[in-house]
Amino acid sequence: NTYVVIMAGGIGSRFWPFSRTNYPKQFHDVLGTGESMLQMTMNRFRDICPIENVFVVTNKDYKTLVQQQLPELSDNQILLEPVGRNTAPCIAYASYKIAQLNPDANLVVTPSDHVVLKQDEFTHVIKEAVEAAAKDDVLITLGITPSRPDTGYGYIQYINDESQRIKKVKTFTEKPNLELAQMFMDSGDFVWNSGIFIWNVQSIIRAFRQQLSEITEIFEEGTAVMNTPEEQNFITKAYSHCRNVSIDYGIMEKVDNVFVLLADIGWSDLGTWNSLYTINEKDANGNVVDGEVMLYDTRNCIVKTPKERLVVLQGLEDYIVAEYDNVLMICKKGEEQKVKDFMADAKSKK
Ligand code: GDD
Ligand code: MG
Repeated sequence: NTYVVIMAGGIGSRFWPFSRTNYPKQFHDVLGTGESMLQMTMNRFRDICPIENVFVVTNKDYKTLVQQQLPELSDNQILLEPVGRNTAPCIAYASYKIAQLNPDANLVVTPSDHVVLKQDEFTHVIKEAVEAAAKDDVLITLGITPSRPDTGYGYIQYINDESQRIKKVKTFTEKPNLELAQMFMDSGDFVWNSGIFIWNVQSIIRAFRQQLSEITEIFEEGTAVMNTPEEQNFITKAYSHCRNVSIDYGIMEKVDNVFVLLADIGWSDLGTWNSLYTINEKDANGNVVDGEVMLYDTRNCIVKTPKERLVVLQGLEDYIVAEYDNVLMICKKGEEQKVKDFMADAKSKK
């Protein structure tokens, strides 16, 4: 009864110019392992459920990319959105579709752009969470011990009952400001939301009814056409009425049946250049290099450039140098939040 929903419709704009609208980061081999982030995500579930139970939700423009990268999936396992409306509609669509196939389904919902280094521990905690979600009306997330006051994450405060592995959540705060994130860190009571959720399909549908009734109404109208040739037409119309809202703001912050399972799974969100820098091995001068690069007096830089170009750098410190598909970006490592703006401005040029 375990089903996996891989969310793969984001654009990954903080990873520009590598992540592009026509080729977002989940389809790239970001770590240089020979597998894309999406392929790594799917492989993570091989011991958890059969491939027939894995569903990928993505933009219609990425259909061919998903088919190429995951040839084992049938077309009915690739859910195509006409437009991105963030994670709540994406999860609603998958939930109504899977509920129609199996009303008792337990869902594991996962981003497609994370790294999990400890596979055995991952398999173990997912199975543990699925077992709990099958029994009770609970929304479970995997919690990660925070290492910095990152404002890009959800912060979870939980009741620390030593006798319970899966802990009741007191507060869920999505993307706090820096001051608040620092307070959460200092208090030691908080973990990061990994963005990997486990729940029974009926529990999440109930939560949608409570918190996002307008989205529920849109998708409930289509229950009869799910998994039929009419599905795509219905979805195109449905998305035109959906507002843009994430599952974190729309549901997780608001409901009182959220639980967290603390997971030491070697997790990182490869959301930004800095995160890629952090998890990679550095050379003696603290540089992370992928490409044909000659470095002189250069320290603490991340360089990712095409193999066919020889790059020579001198005197750089704390910079991101990234080139992909005819766009070269050179940006201070500490100011990479500006990358989103560069992307927006560049759209009008290229
Ligand atoms: N299909 C689809 N459609 N997928 C989407 C859409 C969409 O409209 N929007 C985002 N996604 C996918 C992204 O590709 C990514 O794999 C995942 O959903 C999460 O979206 P992000 O946009 O990366 O979310 P975030 O990083 O800002 O925040 C979430 O993840 C953090 C951990 O990485 C939240 O859940 C935070 O609370 C959490 O800490
Ligand atoms: Mg993310």
